[in-house]
Amino acid sequence: MNLIIRPEMPADHIAIHAVTKRAFAPMPFADGDEQDLIDRFRKAGALEISLVAERDSAVVGQVTFTEAFAEDGSRGWYALGPVAVEPALQKQQIGSQLIEEGLARLRQRDAAGCVLVGDPAYYQRFGFRAFPDLCPAGEPAEYYQILPLAVAAPDSVVAFHPLFHGSG
Ligand SMILES: CC(C)(COP(=O)(O)OP(=O)(O)OC[C@H]1O[C@@H](n2cnc3c(N)ncnc32)[C@H](O)[C@@H]1OP(=O)(O)O)[C@@H](O)C(=O)NCCC(=O)NCCS
Repeated sequence: MNLIIRPEMPADHIAIHAVTKRAFAPMPFADGDEQDLIDRFRKAGALEISLVAERDSAVVGQVTFTEAFAEDGSRGWYALGPVAVEPALQKQQIGSQLIEEGLARLRQRDAAGCVLVGDPAYYQRFGFRAFPDLCPAGEPAEYYQILPLAVAAPDSVVAFHPLFHGSG
């Protein structure tokens, strides 16, 4: 399959919005806001890494990384999500390639690690594991996971960018 993983460009914004909306629409856990969230991050300059998967000149997937905030003030934390792949093209490793490339870029930045809320059955393949004791208030501890990179484990709760909850 002719697939390119690359950073987003301005011409991709509309396609990213549309693919994300289509991917999350059937998901029972989705709040329907994921595509708008990416736009809000971009507008606020909070989109640290946005990679798209391009096939035959079309955007067929996207992954977002934003800064995350350790309560002890340590820096270098990031959050993964949203991540989405065109529904008709799911289960072809596109999501995995987007996530692996994003994590490689975090390693290049000497990131401390990456946090997310998602299904452990999917994310454990990338090395994410549960840290229920470090889950921020209001997040589901059973879905809160961390991939430590430059450090063995965080020393404190690592919280998401406030824009995830509509402020900031
Ligand atoms: C999650 C998503 C980005 C994965 O992309 P993808 O290209 O389909 O994933 P890959 O092909 O790399 O991996 C497929 C594997 O992930 C599994 N998988 C996909 N989504 C999953 C989910 N939400 N929970 C658990 N497993 C999931 C598939 O069952 C498959 O498992 P297998 O390798 O054991 O057969 C894509 O399914 C998607 O856009 N889903 C809708 C939006 C969404 O749920 N985003 C994530 C929110 S946490």
